[in-house]
Amino acid sequence: MDRNILVTGGTGFIGSHTVVELLEIGDNVIIVDNLSNSNPSVLEKIEMITGRKPIFYHCDVTDRKALTNVFASHEIHTVIHFAGLKAVAESVAEPLKYYHNNVVGSIILMQVMEQFHVHNLIFSSSATVYGGNNIMPLTEASPTGPVNPYGMTKLAVENICRDLCSSDQNWHIALLRYFNPVGAHVSGLIGEDPLGIPNNLFPIITQVAIGKRDKLFVYGNDYPTQDGTGVRDYIHVVDLALGHIKTLPFVEENPGVHIFNLGTGKGYSVMDVIKAFERVNDLTVPHVISSRRAGDVAECYSNPDKANRILRWNANLGLEDMCRDGWRFQKQITNHKA
Ligand code: NAD
Ligand code: UD1
Repeated sequence: MDRNILVTGGTGFIGSHTVVELLEIGDNVIIVDNLSNSNPSVLEKIEMITGRKPIFYHCDVTDRKALTNVFASHEIHTVIHFAGLKAVAESVAEPLKYYHNNVVGSIILMQVMEQFHVHNLIFSSSATVYGGNNIMPLTEASPTGPVNPYGMTKLAVENICRDLCSSDQNWHIALLRYFNPVGAHVSGLIGEDPLGIPNNLFPIITQVAIGKRDKLFVYGNDYPTQDGTGVRDYIHVVDLALGHIKTLPFVEENPGVHIFNLGTGKGYSVMDVIKAFERVNDLTVPHVISSRRAGDVAECYSNPDKANRILRWNANLGLEDMCRDGWRFQKQITNHKA
């Protein structure tokens, strides 16, 4: 396509998979990342997969001067804004750090975009913006009401985007609400490799399976779900990346702010995931039932009809692909580190 796409957070989990898909369709990618939760070796992996190199700036989105320099050096067509902090418990302990990074960072980015007359923006929002007492499945019209500072930062940026579009018709913004991205690129070269102790189910499963952790704690089996364990809408990270590719022409053509759920529409329980992972990869994942985790809901899954219809995007990969690809990546990084 030969557009210049600026990808903030492009060496992170979802960003790196999206960069691969952008390079594969011929776009030029300029990454801005402060490497606070990623490793620069991802850049080599991206080149190994695609045969192409993204341009990389080791830069923080809150650094106006550095960001201005990036925009002055490239004619940017669209910005995909992944850069953000995402650990819920940390956001409760350090709210100012989260508001500064996620909200102030987004404001500075949009101010610099405005300065350079760049008005196409795709923002990484989250299903976490929905309130806890909603009827499933969640549509884009379901009430919002995040229960932690991380979710509040996502909703704050959504509201800023809405106000910005009301004030100036030049802006074209898509707010993508991701459900639970998991899995890895089929090459096994890029995936999710959290620094420190992972918070989410999937990386914990792969780390238990490889022996890095003894066992998985299943947080509650007394929810009003089919088997009593929590139900979520897991989406393969490559499907999610492709959702951004489908959003690019939409955003270019449509002024204003537009919200899309990116999920599969299917809910799987914790036990469904453990069993699928064991079956597909022919191994066992030691686990014990423990008490519920504070702040968890019984079920959270999407109605993705709007994205299916308007973006002509569908999630094509299933739970088995997520388990197989996620495991291939975990083995690859473990061998590499050994
Ligand atoms: P990630 O941590 O792997 O990637 C985020 C990247 O942004 C990292 O490479 C990090 O170094 C970079 N970054 C953070 N703050 C920055 C800053 N101030 N300046 C420059 N770079 C910065 O996370 P991810 O899972 O790829 O998530 C990407 C985005 O999607 C985030 O905004 C996250 O909140 C959102 N999201 C993620 C999930 C999920 O489950 N992974 C779900 C919903 C929404
Ligand atoms: C979490 C975040 C949410 C964020 C989402 C995606 C919390 C409270 N919520 O949601 O804000 O948008 O990640 O990044 O942290 N589970 C276990 N054992 C574990 C880990 C998880 O049983 O060791 C269960 C959970 O109780 C849940 C399911 O697995 O039922 C999925 O958990 P997780 O991967 O953390 O995602 P979310 O709970 O959806």
